[in-house]
Amino acid sequence: MKKPNVAIVGATGMVGRQFIRILEERNFPIDNIIFYASARSAGEVITFRGQEHKIIKLNPENFDRPIDIGLFSAGGEISGVYAPILAARGGVAIDNSSKFRMDPAVPLVVPEVNAHDVAWHKGIIANPNCSTIQAVVALAPLHKRFGITRVVYNTYQAVSGAGMDGWMDLENGLKGEAPRKFAHPIANNIIPEVDVISDDGYTLEELKMINETRKILGAPDMKVTATCVRVPVFNGHSESINVEFENIFEVEQIVETLANAAGVVVQDAPHPIPMPVNVSGTDEVFVGRIRRDNSAGNAINMWVVADNIRKGAALNAVQIAELLL
Ligand code: A2P
Repeated sequence: MKKPNVAIVGATGMVGRQFIRILEERNFPIDNIIFYASARSAGEVITFRGQEHKIIKLNPENFDRPIDIGLFSAGGEISGVYAPILAARGGVAIDNSSKFRMDPAVPLVVPEVNAHDVAWHKGIIANPNCSTIQAVVALAPLHKRFGITRVVYNTYQAVSGAGMDGWMDLENGLKGEAPRKFAHPIANNIIPEVDVISDDGYTLEELKMINETRKILGAPDMKVTATCVRVPVFNGHSESINVEFENIFEVEQIVETLANAAGVVVQDAPHPIPMPVNVSGTDEVFVGRIRRDNSAGNAINMWVVADNIRKGAALNAVQIAELLL
């Protein structure tokens, strides 16, 4: 691809701002860049690589510029309208919403795991759910070596995963204000209900983790279950993951496999345990507390932490864009 024209859709949001920072940090080649947001921010200025750019209000009339790659994080409705328009014009939409993730015609990509799936895109590539991304970066190398049969996720998810409004609910809640984004207070509380509950009792976030894990790992029959919990942490998702394997293993082999895996940093004893305060602002997936689960056959427990806005969203999308160059 020639030096691409890039559009950021949702440029003022929690993820949109990180798109901008990460494109700059990684020196992503760009011919021209366009920033789209809602009418609320239209006309405001974003400085990118020392140049000022006016934010453009997204509407069908304004979405007529030449765009090779669109990085979308303005919600599923916006992606549902504008990603197909871009694809039909020969551009590629990399979409952070859940709109297209389970569409069999759309690749769902974590570059460390299934970069090869980019090859069959038809103009839309989905960026997975933040909790799923960090989990599969750690699970994929273990699956390859030992064959995973079952995964049990328990998550501890930061408020940044719910965008600016989620962040403000914690900030304002700590000052005693009532929540606006979440259905319950998040300050001094935990909410074991991330996204809405479906008929079977699972939240949409839990179903995303279950279904997206299977799609990314190419393991449609893998047993996966999840409980997703919002915690009063500003940024950085943590996950306790229980994994059962087909093959026997030594814990040292698990540690060695993770230590050699792309995008993974093992911080097991004697290192400090991975925690959001240390991991927020970094690019890797940190794994610690790796130990045998003596209650099951070939099983382990591990603790996985990552910056959900960087690796869990903006960075992963930019890594996908890099595969297109
Ligand atoms: P804006 O800030 O102008 O409302 P977050 O996930 O952090 O809440 O961010 C959502 C992003 O999506 C913001 O950049 C927001 O822009 C953008 N957005 C929301 N609604 C629209 C819309 N109707 N058209 C374009 N961008 C939108």
